[in-house]
Amino acid sequence: MYTMLLHLHNTNRWLLILAGLVALVGVVLWLRTSRQTNWTRIALRAWVVLFDLQLLMGLALFAVSPILRAGFQDPFGHEPFRYFAMEHALPMMLALVLVHWGSYRLRRSEEPCFCHAWPLFLAYVIMLATTPWDRPLFPGMG
Ligand code: HEM
Repeated sequence: MYTMLLHLHNTNRWLLILAGLVALVGVVLWLRTSRQTNWTRIALRAWVVLFDLQLLMGLALFAVSPILRAGFQDPFGHEPFRYFAMEHALPMMLALVLVHWGSYRLRRSEEPCFCHAWPLFLAYVIMLATTPWDRPLFPGMG
């Protein structure tokens, strides 16, 4: 169960990075031409849905991870727990809120502008910055 979740969480990271990138390129074109393409809509939707899934898997990992379970007794003293809770999960949850908020504001706006889209760009930076790149790049590697 743990290994399967960890591998899914690991792989979904690449889908999120791809969906976010395509969505941002689409949003930039949308802001420049004032026309939203179908693939931009799909990429934005995919980014939101995949992020929601990543949150569910991440929360489940807190419950089943043997590395993290030991940290529940002493959350701040246990280095891996402190790292994954404070420096990974927390900023990722903020990024998730920004993705929901940004895509909602863009969808609702009559004249989309960067003032509506900035949460998406910030979310992408947070997502890249707080991914644990020292962990395997693909399931089973390293
Ligand atoms: C949305 C909230 C998220 C939560 C609550 C969460 C939680 C976690 C937890 C608890 C672990 C550690 C599991 C372990 O080592 O036993 C983990 C690992 C990891 N997370 Fe997240 N995560 C979230 C979002 C993300 C996002 C958005 C990405 C990347 C785009 C990501 C990428 C990773 C990677 C690459 C690992 C290491 C996987 C491995 O070692 O194979 N996480 N996450």
